[in-house]
Amino acid sequence: MYKTHTCGEVGVKDIGKEVTLAGWVDRLRDLGGVTFVDLRDRFGIIQLVSNPVSSPEVHQAMIPVRMEWVIQAVGIVRKRPEGMENPDLATGEIEVELTRVEILNPAKTPPFLINQEEDVDEQTRLKYRYLDLRRPRMRDNIIFRHRLITFIRNYLDKKEFLEIETPILFKTTPEGARDYIVPSRIHPGQFYALPQSPQQLKQMLMVAGVERYFQIARCFRDEDQRGDRQPEFTQLDIEMSFVEREDVMNLMEDLYTSLVKEVVPQKKVLETPWPELTYQQALDRFGKDNPDIRFGLELKDISEIALESGFRVFSETVEKGGTVRGINVKGLGDYSRKQIDELTDYVKGHGAGGLAYLALSEEGEERSSFVKFITDDAKAQILTIMGAEPGDLLLFVADLPEVVFDSLGRLREELRDRLNLVNDDIMGFCWVVDFPLVKWNKDEKRWDPSHHLFTSPMMVDVEFLDDDPSKVRGQQYDLVLNGLEIAGGSIRIHKADLQEKIFDLIGLDLEVARERFGHMLRAFSYGTPPHGGIASGIDRLCMLLANEPNIREVIAFPKNQSARDLMGNAPSAVESEQLEELHIKLSLD
Ligand code: AMO
Ligand code: AMP
Repeated sequence: MYKTHTCGEVGVKDIGKEVTLAGWVDRLRDLGGVTFVDLRDRFGIIQLVSNPVSSPEVHQAMIPVRMEWVIQAVGIVRKRPEGMENPDLATGEIEVELTRVEILNPAKTPPFLINQEEDVDEQTRLKYRYLDLRRPRMRDNIIFRHRLITFIRNYLDKKEFLEIETPILFKTTPEGARDYIVPSRIHPGQFYALPQSPQQLKQMLMVAGVERYFQIARCFRDEDQRGDRQPEFTQLDIEMSFVEREDVMNLMEDLYTSLVKEVVPQKKVLETPWPELTYQQALDRFGKDNPDIRFGLELKDISEIALESGFRVFSETVEKGGTVRGINVKGLGDYSRKQIDELTDYVKGHGAGGLAYLALSEEGEERSSFVKFITDDAKAQILTIMGAEPGDLLLFVADLPEVVFDSLGRLREELRDRLNLVNDDIMGFCWVVDFPLVKWNKDEKRWDPSHHLFTSPMMVDVEFLDDDPSKVRGQQYDLVLNGLEIAGGSIRIHKADLQEKIFDLIGLDLEVARERFGHMLRAFSYGTPPHGGIASGIDRLCMLLANEPNIREVIAFPKNQSARDLMGNAPSAVESEQLEELHIKLSLD
């Protein structure tokens, strides 16, 4: 037996007992000839003592031992001498006097310290991820992720959901990204696509009569990396039959509210029931469809006044179909010109033409880039709309709506971070609904689904499908937490004729649609229940609940920012024989 106890569980109750422990040497100290070793395993840290007088053999055996060596230690548990207790350790009241030691495996000096939270370059951490995972922060994140997923599994099991695995080698499942494709050796020139989500398969399971499905599903998307995106990531994927939008939303709300209570009791949900915003309200108030609702700085529309204001930057923008909107940053009326210029550069970096400002000091003085150009009446109205008071800083962007929303939406969150406006222990969940079913793709001159191809239109809007598709809302819902989209779903189309109509609308040739999605259309003709579902980004949820800055910190073996696995060095070249078998010729220039 390698161990009778873990390093975390030995305590005062064990004083006088012989224990056998095994783990890694976390720290070594020599104090007046007596060696103290902190031995670590996944469960904790315990202090071992080797005394040259009482056990010279053990002491001799310990001489070559270094940090991160794997050892087995046998000894007697004793109380630490008065004043030597360590209240930071669960095992801090005791120590183990060694009677025998066996070196199980020596270790090279690690490239970074395991026992300290020092800042280590991420490339090095990812290259030696197995060492990084030994560090307390990562160990805790991995344990946390396990607890989160276990909670979800148990919750859904109680509600009679079945967890069903679906294939990784399948056909294209478009979710708006590029596919990773896998060549077939047996079928020359043919390819599998790795699923961007199990979307089609979970709908097939509804046709199959499963009614309540879930999966902790791996998804693959070839898209540009960001802190909240990985090429392979994990979804909690759910699909239900005979449901309406509210049924799915209520389930998620109860699941995640219970999860927060149980798994992160120190966190508080901002508002229950979770607020529901329409897509348009989310844009109008927060500038983005995944708003952080934990703080104010909401956008206000001054376009109407801007049109008559006399300031050409404003009026010409509105004449050309643009909009002028602003935010009121309370208490920043004394921001220096340099600080305002920084904010201006920030919005310019996100496509805005400029940032007009009006700074009001507590003493009633005014500094502004545009007030001199506008009428007193226009100024008074702007101050009213903005709810301005002495000490406020008003910031405005004039441009096309998408630019105004994007730049002010980002500026709002930039100010959140600069001014420390939120508490990470507050969970601001909200739903966003009533998305347009399709969005116009200027480059390709066609309609693109705003969620995915299988989302049902609102039945009351179906009449506009032919004449004005922009008016059609989808039965879609996004779940947002603290400014990040953590889930998205919809009620699906369950009739082949409506599905064909949507294919047609988005310019998918019926022949091509039948080739790609014929299996869905066929399945839909065999008695399909009305159904809907949702998928939630587990990595993102875990990141937010663990207060981590990016999802790599909650994934055991993530890819880096350029989609590379630095530990295994993937992707990498393959043998030419392998390519030949796959009938693939490379043309690399
Ligand atoms: P969607 O594409 O919105 O919906 O994805 C659902 C959730 O998955 C997370 N997510 C990601 N997380 C990390 N890295 C990525 N690259 C990444 N892409 C998405 C987000 C997102 O909200 N099949 C539909 C769901 C449905 O309709 O039921 C789907 O996949 O948190
Ligand atoms: P100008 O007339 O270009 O000197 O601009 C006067 C003020 O309007 C400056 O403070 C600019 O930053 C601001 N401004 C210019 N373009 C925009 C815009 N698109 N939105 C908001 N403010 C702008």
